[in-house]
Amino acid sequence: MRLKGKVALVTGASSGIGKAIAGLFAKEGAEVILAAKDTRKLKAVQKEIQKEGGRAFSVSMDITKRNQVYNSIKTIIKKYGRVDILVNNAGIARWDPIENVSDRDFDEHMLVNVTGYYNCIKAVVPYMVKRKSGAILNIISGSGKNARAGTVAYSTSKFGAAGLSDAVHEDLKKYGINVTAIYPGKTDTPIHDAYLKKSDPKRKKFLRPEDVAKLAIYAATLPPYAKLKEVSLRPEE
Ligand SMILES: NC(=O)c1ccc[n+]([C@@H]2O[C@H](COP(=O)([O-])OP(=O)(O)OC[C@H]3O[C@@H](n4cnc5c(N)ncnc54)[C@H](O)[C@@H]3O)[C@@H](O)[C@H]2O)c1
Repeated sequence: MRLKGKVALVTGASSGIGKAIAGLFAKEGAEVILAAKDTRKLKAVQKEIQKEGGRAFSVSMDITKRNQVYNSIKTIIKKYGRVDILVNNAGIARWDPIENVSDRDFDEHMLVNVTGYYNCIKAVVPYMVKRKSGAILNIISGSGKNARAGTVAYSTSKFGAAGLSDAVHEDLKKYGINVTAIYPGKTDTPIHDAYLKKSDPKRKKFLRPEDVAKLAIYAATLPPYAKLKEVSLRPEE
């Protein structure tokens, strides 16, 4: 019960890595607030967690819509009084090289994967600063360190999110708030289906979402003096 009594908000909790993080956080005793665009799927995840004895609440929230994010955070603060842990996880990925990528796709990646993360951080920070405590985990990607061909929109957005995480880490360490970037390698989730099914049909060299969730627990339970900026996890070769 390493997260007993903690209030954790997990974005993109309806699927993949976010769902695994929410499940494990609940098993570790956290009150988990599940957020994503898709309410129907969120409710199903909430039920699953509750069936196993965990505590979960869901909010429908598009992270690109600043007003929705602020209103959701206000609702959460009213209900729980605080957010101890924010897991910025909701993201999108589509694959195209620079010659083919559409302006719309590029802009959308920046909006969800960078501005969406910023919106959630900006909304919770005043409450964390007031309490001089908290943890912010930003799920980035190996593509936020090394770009591969055909990933221009995704990699650019993930490098942006990495910069955001670094800068906020520096700003908030004086308050004892931990901001940690998590860099998972390829993970078996629906996000990259179209691309990964082609490149690795048997999905042998993949992390499981549960592996990333364990790393998230580690990052969420770091003591304030740890000041650990990032952690990475790669599938075994
Ligand atoms: N799967 C991988 O190989 C991998 C590797 C490294 C990093 N990541 C990152 O992990 C995170 C989660 O990805 P996943 O693989 O679990 O994918 P996924 O598609 O299974 O889950 C994505 C989640 O984000 C939510 N979402 C998307 N846009 C949203 C928006 N505007 N507002 C609110 N919610 C939104 C979806 O509803 C869904 O719950 C992403 O940031 C992704 O870039 C994934």
